[in-house]
Amino acid sequence: MKSRRNFIKKSIVAGAGMALAPSLTFGNSKDIFSGKLKLAFIGVGGRGMGHVRNALRREDVEITAIGDIDPKAIKNALKKIADSGFKTPKVYDKHEYDYRNLLEDKNVDAVIISTPWLWHTRMAKEAMEANVYAGVEVSAANTLEECWDLVNTHEKTGTHMMILENVNYRRDVMAVLNMVKQNVFGELVHFRCGYQHDLRAVKFTDGTEFGKNASGEARWRTQHSLLRNGDVYPTHGVGPIAAMCDINRGNRFTSLTSTASKAIGLNNYIVKNGGEDHPNAKIKWKQGDVITSTIETANGETIIVTHDCNLPRPYSLGFRVQGANGLWEVDGNRIYIEGKSKQHRWDQADAWLKKYDHPLWQKYGDFASGAGHGGMDFFVLNAFVESAKQNIAPPLDVYDAAAWSVITPLSELSIENNGEPQDFPDFTRGNWVKRKPYNWMKSSY
Ligand SMILES: NC(=O)c1ccc[n+]([C@@H]2O[C@H](COP(=O)([O-])OP(=O)(O)OC[C@H]3O[C@@H](n4cnc5c(N)ncnc54)[C@H](O)[C@@H]3O)[C@@H](O)[C@H]2O)c1
Repeated sequence: MKSRRNFIKKSIVAGAGMALAPSLTFGNSKDIFSGKLKLAFIGVGGRGMGHVRNALRREDVEITAIGDIDPKAIKNALKKIADSGFKTPKVYDKHEYDYRNLLEDKNVDAVIISTPWLWHTRMAKEAMEANVYAGVEVSAANTLEECWDLVNTHEKTGTHMMILENVNYRRDVMAVLNMVKQNVFGELVHFRCGYQHDLRAVKFTDGTEFGKNASGEARWRTQHSLLRNGDVYPTHGVGPIAAMCDINRGNRFTSLTSTASKAIGLNNYIVKNGGEDHPNAKIKWKQGDVITSTIETANGETIIVTHDCNLPRPYSLGFRVQGANGLWEVDGNRIYIEGKSKQHRWDQADAWLKKYDHPLWQKYGDFASGAGHGGMDFFVLNAFVESAKQNIAPPLDVYDAAAWSVITPLSELSIENNGEPQDFPDFTRGNWVKRKPYNWMKSSY
């Protein structure tokens, strides 16, 4: 393991001064990393395979190991890897703790973890302990204790982890981030965001089944709606907003209040598909259909975060970014900037978003467009691979993972206590005061 890291460090020294550009299967960019990143995957289901497909498009990555407990998922991944002309990776599929052997494999520098939520923290923690650079899918943790586990393990081992929040790299989100950094909205005041996605068909196989007889996410995700009344999926909304207002880097989340509506959506769905006498129609779901949390920041901004996944509705992350000079609202695709827009009238957002298109999207947009989720999946993997190759802190680091993921247990606590405010732990241990804002405007990754 040591030699693996030394190799990375030597490669960086050897390449010092060379252009920091990703080595992709297009263009002729230089690579500071003389070898290939030996990348492993734990979990090659729906999401893991998305990352595998994108990794297969890169020249600077070798897929050395994959792990999953589902033989179909392994077969599917091996076929895709072989079809792309990559070498066959080592397979870890014996049992649910076989990932530990994958992490000890000398041929693994970095790992992408795309497993069900309850596995994330223990896998990421053990990866860091094994000196393997870890990328973990969202959310990174389920409990307050798990959030601290991630931070403590990173600080103890010095190994990095990245939360793989792809929405931070969405084209409109990055254009608005660009506008924020260029002060177009003025001093920031208020945000809205959330996860508003009708997941009923994902939560139930054949309209009624979840748990061991179901498939895909219905095998594990639905259980969280049964047992937890809180915002179980906050990071798609909060991640981009946290980058805009420099959370953990000169600002931080300080407190949160949450409320939950009644829970009728999942029951209605089962009754519609299986009838009133279906055994699952008797289940009492704990998760309110619409969960609304309000976060306050140290710099005085407020953020309303919505979780809305059990009722019929079109998809929207509901972004609103508002400052002293104006605002962007994703619903309605509109922007108003005082002095630039007609008074009291919205502008269509398109021209603004084009004008402030982020340098990364201008550079890689064409290549990224086939990468999944409108292209943002390319950028999140790119940031991970480029950071892992240099063995440096990623843009979305362990402190971000903890501060965003802790919204889940804090919202549960607040709901349970009638909307009582909950304090955010300061995972940076005071260092947020002096940590510099991340340079989001660089065009390398
Ligand atoms: N960022 C995004 O846009 C996005 C999209 C979808 C899912 N996700 C996240 O990705 C993660 C995975 O979701 P998914 O949709 O791929 O789910 P999935 O159920 O399709 O895949 C999960 C895989 O993990 C495997 N697995 C379970 N336990 C394991 C263990 N102990 N060891 C090895 N493998 C194990 C399963 O067999 C399965 O193949 C979740 O955290 C989800 O929230 C993120």
